[in-house]
Amino acid sequence: MSKKYLSQRVAGLPPSGIRKFFDILAEMPDVISLGVGEPDFITPRPIMDAAIESINAGKTQYTSNSGTVELRRAVAKHLENLYQVSYDPMSEMIITVGVSEALYLAMTALLDQGDEVIVPTPCFVSYQAEIILAGGVPVEIASSIENDFQPDPAAIEAAITDRTKAILIGYPNNPTGAVATRETLIEIGKIAEKHDLIVISDEIYDQLVYGTEHVCFPSLPGMKERTVFLGGFSKDYAMTGWRVGYVCAPAEILTGMLRVHQYTIMSAPTMSQAAALRAIEIGRPHVDTMRDEYDRRRKLMVSGFNDMGLKTFEPRGAFYAFPQITSTGMTGDDFAMGLLKEHSVAVVPGSAFGPGGEGYVRCCYATSYEEVAEALERIQSFIESKK
Ligand SMILES: Cc1ncc(COP(=O)(O)O)c(C=O)c1O
Repeated sequence: MSKKYLSQRVAGLPPSGIRKFFDILAEMPDVISLGVGEPDFITPRPIMDAAIESINAGKTQYTSNSGTVELRRAVAKHLENLYQVSYDPMSEMIITVGVSEALYLAMTALLDQGDEVIVPTPCFVSYQAEIILAGGVPVEIASSIENDFQPDPAAIEAAITDRTKAILIGYPNNPTGAVATRETLIEIGKIAEKHDLIVISDEIYDQLVYGTEHVCFPSLPGMKERTVFLGGFSKDYAMTGWRVGYVCAPAEILTGMLRVHQYTIMSAPTMSQAAALRAIEIGRPHVDTMRDEYDRRRKLMVSGFNDMGLKTFEPRGAFYAFPQITSTGMTGDDFAMGLLKEHSVAVVPGSAFGPGGEGYVRCCYATSYEEVAEALERIQSFIESKK
């Protein structure tokens, strides 16, 4: 092709640091993958049945753009029960195609060319890309193990310029497993208020916390009016393939997001919305069972890494451990590539998640207890072979 057809915006997107590992992995037999961030559980049966019932009842059309009224009401009730935060299901909520779409809507609706979004890192790989795609500029603020991977309010405030539009936070965190404390979130809220910024809070792992509380950002005093709240079904209910999530925001912002959603998506999949409704109605015991099992694996993994000399922060949420591998003398990339090629265990180099991630690897424990145990043995052998 003689002409360059791709837009500069897309051509300039950094390649995903995760992709190349998954490409190699796909060609290898007998790999234990601690790489992909999704539950190994199949969606609980009653939730699947709700989708089948919906299809059998002939519900194969679009729903309302914002999602079915039943699901929106159920999400509103759920948030009220869990976090005492009230959203109007008719004017402050959209059912989306996963939190991925909700992120896209938020960025597209909020950002003008050159607007800055402050993002504590390490963070979910899509955050920076979504900001760039919408014409914005990600301003990355590294967090560190010394500070339990909490977002640093002072560093956030120091990064504010007259182009700053929003702060994007995601806790429980992918990849560190950190859960932001109430104090930290209150501090961030005060900064947002002082500088009149929006806070976009991705709380997709909200129900996967271990022995600690999850603080829902818009439930903090005065914060609902300046928060775009993202929630989902993929992780808590083991529903990644259903592609359903939601976004709640003040009506004015929501109206802008709905406009983008109407033109790009129409509505989230109808049968998936039926499944999500059932998940919210009866899902809690299923979530608890899965969470307890993740917790068992979490303990095994964290103590396993610390015992083999890889300093590992205790993750209190999501399903990731983030061991520090600097004691091996390798970079995260070399560690991940060597481990995959020589011992058939897939992990993700921490540098894929932005500043603060180098010197770490992300290991997902949403894989069976036995596989976690086997992976730990292989990692131990790998480290010993490098001494
Ligand atoms: C922090 C975070 N947000 C959003 C997503 C995307 O979720 P969904 O499947 O709802 O699009 C992920 C998936 O890995 C994630 O880790």
